[in-house]
Amino acid sequence: MKILAIAGSNSDTSINKQLVTYTTTLFTNAEVEIVDMNDFEMPIYKHQREVESGVPQQAIDFASKIDNADLLLVSLSEHNGTYSTAFKNVFDWTSRIKQRAVWNEKPMLLMATAPGARGGLGVLEAAEKRFPLHGGNIIDTFTLPFFNDNFDKETQKISNQEKDSELREKVNKISALETILEK
Ligand SMILES: Cc1cc2nc3c(=O)[nH]c(=O)nc-3n(C[C@H](O)[C@H](O)[C@H](O)COP(=O)(O)O)c2cc1C
Repeated sequence: MKILAIAGSNSDTSINKQLVTYTTTLFTNAEVEIVDMNDFEMPIYKHQREVESGVPQQAIDFASKIDNADLLLVSLSEHNGTYSTAFKNVFDWTSRIKQRAVWNEKPMLLMATAPGARGGLGVLEAAEKRFPLHGGNIIDTFTLPFFNDNFDKETQKISNQEKDSELREKVNKISALETILEK
């Protein structure tokens, strides 16, 4: 099984990247690739840019990584209640590739974390509503509130036992899906 883990952040110390990276370790026998939005940095979407130069190669690369994966783990950072600008730019450009649904119906575990009590629930809800319109096949969702209290920075693991068990249960359910296991 090929896992593409996506941090919807361009922070060099992204907590969503830490969470999604930890989540990859809970899968067995998986080939894992971890990316963040720095890997697809490109000019901000502008209609005229698209008309003049087409969709940038970085968005095409992002799409092709999705196409090559069997499972997507996506953890989004929340900025002012919704997507980070860095993620939204990649999403917007990718949505402009002709005859393409961004997520290409790939099974997805959608996640978010934040330092606050809601754990990025705002961005998670926005994505949960929107992604299915772009080929998003969301199998499950997970949020980790109070990241700094619930994630051990030294061991790079969730330290809150209840939340860790919740995530492990979701991972086990996803791992058992026949469509993924076949790969
Ligand atoms: C411009 C900006 C807006 C933010 N807005 C929110 C917010 O609406 N809700 C929230 O829980 N955290 C908010 N935060 C805090 C982020 O959750 C925090 O910076 C977190 O580290 C972002 O995830 P990342 O490290 O994976 O990029 C905001 C941070 C910034 C810089």
